[in-house]
Amino acid sequence: MLKSQTISTRGLLAAVIIGSASAYSIPRDTFTPTIKGTPQVLGLVSDPSFNRDSCGSVRFQTRDFWTCRDTQVNDEQGRPGGGTISSTAGFTPFNFDGTPYVEQTNIVRMTGDNHAPFYDMTNEQCSACNQCNGNTAGACLDGKTRYALWPDSPPMVTAGQFEGQVTAYTWIKNQKLEGLTLLQNNPSTALHKITYDPFNPGPKALPSVSIANPEFWPEGSFAYGSYGNVVNDGVAYLYAKADDNGKPIALAKVAADSVEDKSKYQYWVGGSWTSKQPAITDSNAHLVNAGAGGQGTYYYYEPWNRYVWIGQAGISISAEFFITTAVKPQGPWSQPTLLYKGVDGNATLPAYSLQAHPTLRPGSRNEVYLTYSKVDRWDGVELDVYSTPLIRIEWE
Ligand SMILES: *[C@@H]1O[C@H](CO)[C@@H](O)[C@H](O)[C@H]1NC(C)=O
Repeated sequence: MLKSQTISTRGLLAAVIIGSASAYSIPRDTFTPTIKGTPQVLGLVSDPSFNRDSCGSVRFQTRDFWTCRDTQVNDEQGRPGGGTISSTAGFTPFNFDGTPYVEQTNIVRMTGDNHAPFYDMTNEQCSACNQCNGNTAGACLDGKTRYALWPDSPPMVTAGQFEGQVTAYTWIKNQKLEGLTLLQNNPSTALHKITYDPFNPGPKALPSVSIANPEFWPEGSFAYGSYGNVVNDGVAYLYAKADDNGKPIALAKVAADSVEDKSKYQYWVGGSWTSKQPAITDSNAHLVNAGAGGQGTYYYYEPWNRYVWIGQAGISISAEFFITTAVKPQGPWSQPTLLYKGVDGNATLPAYSLQAHPTLRPGSRNEVYLTYSKVDRWDGVELDVYSTPLIRIEWE
């Protein structure tokens, strides 16, 4: 199946080694996060009408808002058979005490009306286009290639997280694939803008989304914000990861109310902030230990006064969650360490898209929720079934 093959290629081509060879000579954060008790698997985050992977979430006022990548529509027997939608979205409500609402069947609902891709594929606005938007999968007429507009991280909320109109942004690479192969490393990256009025839509209505800039980051440059992001004290810190050259991570910042204005951005290069965007190959722009190399989530955690990254190692396809911390967004970061190991699926690609959900429980509670895409092979049929286990970790 195109979906798993593609992700497989992306995972296996990764070449990041945890704790690079030069890391021992540089300063590191020495904080040690400690888990209290045994992490709890609360259930699966799911909408039973869909088979989908790579979901991340962020708080939109009284609910957590999720975006996912490729989504198959299930038939009445719950078998994935329908077409592929390249991205979908949904909401999870909270209980009165702020915990995510878990149904008796151990399902945390993630519901939304998804008939078309949540994120728009463009037609003629940019050089990376036409993005083959005549169908919901982004499949091109040559029968071989597709535009897979897959979010690498959940939307970044810049306004209205607790009240008023919500504004959020996502950067998605304009990525074209042929079968197993990325046709281009470091393609251009679109800035997608999400707005949401909680008083307007019904329970299944999804936020509005539009393309603020189809090529916000040009081809061949760091796609700041796509790998992860944190808003703290009105400043958006935006992480990028290159597709090649050892897959270095880099950091930019901008006032949270100026995300669309590229002239306001500053870049972390050679130990200070500069307004000149560095090249991907500029090693002065590369952060050390700011993640373990795979997909994950950055957030700021007040009880520790630290930035936190939780996610997967660069060449891993198992549900091993690594963690690293830093007092400042640029570091020094600690060396990533193994935090938690979830149950792998039994398909060719057992687990990926490891995510933390720092806003899934509102308020600064002493805990964090984790999810990943677990893939199991159905007996006797050529079908991969994707699920999203939800794990609760309590800190000492
Ligand atoms: C894989 O896991 C699924 C779901 O738990 C199960 O139904 C199936 O029997 C397993 N297949 C194998 C070969 O273990």
